[in-house]
Amino acid sequence: MEYSTIKIQDNLYYIGVNDRHTHMFENMWPLEKGVSYNSFLMTGEKNIIIDSVHAERFEVYISKIRSVIGDNGIIDYLIINHMEPDHSSSINLLLQAYPNMKLIGNSKTEEFIQAFYKIDTKDIFIKVEDGEKLKLGEHEFTFYKTPMVHWPESMVTYYEKTKTLFSQDAFGGFGTLDGGIFDDEVNWREHEYETRRYFTNIVGKFSQQIQGALKKLSALQIDVICPVHGLIWRKEPQKIISLYDSLSKYETREGVVIAYGSMYGNTEKMADILANTLSKNGIKDVLVYDVSKTHISHILANIWIYKGLLLGSCSYNNSLYPVMEHAYRVLEINKLKNHTLGIFGTYGWSGGGVKTLVNLPKSNPAYDFIEEVVDVKCSPSYEDFQKCIALADEMTKRIRA
Ligand SMILES: [Fe+2]
Ligand SMILES: [Fe+2]
Repeated sequence: MEYSTIKIQDNLYYIGVNDRHTHMFENMWPLEKGVSYNSFLMTGEKNIIIDSVHAERFEVYISKIRSVIGDNGIIDYLIINHMEPDHSSSINLLLQAYPNMKLIGNSKTEEFIQAFYKIDTKDIFIKVEDGEKLKLGEHEFTFYKTPMVHWPESMVTYYEKTKTLFSQDAFGGFGTLDGGIFDDEVNWREHEYETRRYFTNIVGKFSQQIQGALKKLSALQIDVICPVHGLIWRKEPQKIISLYDSLSKYETREGVVIAYGSMYGNTEKMADILANTLSKNGIKDVLVYDVSKTHISHILANIWIYKGLLLGSCSYNNSLYPVMEHAYRVLEINKLKNHTLGIFGTYGWSGGGVKTLVNLPKSNPAYDFIEEVVDVKCSPSYEDFQKCIALADEMTKRIRA
């Protein structure tokens, strides 16, 4: 099958693939709108691939490569910015297709290549250091390490001639590239949410390192950004840089996410009273989620940007409701800053829901925690509802302070 190739610049082609069939990214984060694995091919005296794709899409991938360099063309180099298997599981297959291909990465990249794919790298690996320049044919690249954005070996590749940054996971997003691949070919509003969800689910926990990487890269003039997921930025690269900057600084806006787990609807009643009170207080963005129905991946994307968070749970056999436990664990991993947290819930006999949720602000003291939790036996009474109203009033006051 022949593929019409998309030219990004002279000598630079998009050879990425869409994945619409994988249900969960990292087998954990739902992909309702799919994901793209972006890969780039630079042609010239030497043919160079920058980042590859998931091996499951190899058939499409190799067709795209061949449609640029022909069936008899060869790939001389593969620059590996990131070793997570969504970008590296094709390495062995590429080596089978192009046995003389050399691999380029840093020392940690080499360790992962050996450990994941049992490849003997002795004669085929070119190690680069932070800030090192490397000439491949007529093309010169500079490499910058960006550790933990997303993995320890993560680095970015800069092509100075056209001020193009190959940024691997940084500046990426969920969602397939449906037709248009460039920022100026699509409506950003359709992509903003899936980009935020990718950020908050996948790389947000490394926000501090992202801030470090942004600082490091700020010295470069960047006209084009080629991430390994989501849109290619050629018109307004500053837009995606600003979004990543804002999210990794934990900038929040006025609004409250209420996420609850409820078996018989009693904790849900409390969530509704909280939401009504917040609304009466003039808070316009009040987002209520039942954690049994909405995957935490979506809830987290909104928790991240709204200053207020109210977590509610029933108890389950003397501990936290298992569905809420998943949400709790995800929040525990993501050490959110700049958030006000309130807690409510119900219990049958010896509690467990609220009793466990109050450990969250202990694990992350950055929370502005409202100490007055509302813990209710079985179902809320009039007095309990008054306590919920007081909790919502306190939340309103704090997020507006
Ligand atoms: Fe990754
Ligand atoms: Fe990735």
